[in-house]
Amino acid sequence: MRNWQLGLRNELNQLADKNLIRELKSTAHGTNPVCVREGKTLLNFSSNNYLGLAGHPLLIQAMQNTVEAGSPSSRLLVGNEAKTQHLEEELAQWQETESALVFSNGYMANLGVLSSFLDRKDAVFSDQLNHASIVDGIRLSGATSFRYRHGNMNHLENLLKKAAKKGFRRKLIVTDAVFSMDGDIAPLRDLVSLKEKYDTALFVDEAHSVGTIGPQGKGLAHHLGISDQIEIHMGTFSKAFGVYGAYVAGKKDWIHYLINHSRSFIYTTALPPSIISAILQSLKLIQQSDRSRHLLKRKSMKFRDELSKYGFNIANSSTQIVPVVIGDSSKSLAFSQKLIANGILSVAIRPPTVPAGSARLRFSLMADHRDDDIQNVIESITEIGYECGVIL
Ligand SMILES: Cc1ncc(COP(=O)(O)O)c(C=O)c1O
Repeated sequence: MRNWQLGLRNELNQLADKNLIRELKSTAHGTNPVCVREGKTLLNFSSNNYLGLAGHPLLIQAMQNTVEAGSPSSRLLVGNEAKTQHLEEELAQWQETESALVFSNGYMANLGVLSSFLDRKDAVFSDQLNHASIVDGIRLSGATSFRYRHGNMNHLENLLKKAAKKGFRRKLIVTDAVFSMDGDIAPLRDLVSLKEKYDTALFVDEAHSVGTIGPQGKGLAHHLGISDQIEIHMGTFSKAFGVYGAYVAGKKDWIHYLINHSRSFIYTTALPPSIISAILQSLKLIQQSDRSRHLLKRKSMKFRDELSKYGFNIANSSTQIVPVVIGDSSKSLAFSQKLIANGILSVAIRPPTVPAGSARLRFSLMADHRDDDIQNVIESITEIGYECGVIL
């Protein structure tokens, strides 16, 4: 055991030397968009609670009105509450598809989808910047993985051509709709064309787009009017919905297949009824939140425009997720610390969450951010940017 201990300590020290060590910071959430972190009150620019629903009185009330706190078992034993089935019907209707299945969270949904539909006989084509849960799901599936350069359809097509000669059983393209660390959007229309041309299925993770994009917050695919051309849709309840959990939606047979094959669905306890009640309530609010979506869009656009004007590298962000790419991890940490000193929270994101050499601050806007707060934050970022040599 002593060797274990020394080995672990050694590796942690190496991470710290490279400014890559991670520590948990005690954080409490007050009235949006403020949080208290290690005793300091900060304007929160790191939250995925984009519409501010996490603290909504109707969601809290829905949880409080639920008698049972926990679930008795997995769904396939005695954990299949009528309320969960009702939620799945509502989700399918909202997503304008045949069927939906609730998962414990987005990570498990992605693991479940990829490892159920694919195995060693199959090929999967994945954007280089897809979320870690997609990467892990691919690994678990054992399928041959073709990673295409971020958003690069020529590269993807070359890989599809290459794979076409190899006689794979099934082929699947998988992409985030909105990329979680870059805030840009996937070229879904082009992906649909390629998947048709190469007889491939398409799986879209709408974790950061449901609630924030599209009519009634249905997500990017609906916004583009191509939802029915995508075989598998996934979304989370942990971001704009302000609750917890996730869903996968699609045709009946695909969902039924998941019920029979997805180990991250079968071998885990059903989400508690209190959570399901809150999700049901949130689904109603999400559909009525056009005004919040509009505010979020307007505020995000202003934030992005101002930062680009000052010369910050905000990648190709076109959403409420706005990175300020710095490159160096220690510089990113120092930038974040200086913002904290100014009462602003934007957590530094470092490898391996983002590729080596692309450490950054990831700002996420909320509909609740006040215009003058946003203006002050832009001024602080700019001052610190000059001071740290991030902009010249
Ligand atoms: C694109 C994407 N997919 C999946 C997930 C995982 O979702 P959850 O937090 O519900 O596990 C996240 C969240 O971190 C994400 O950003």
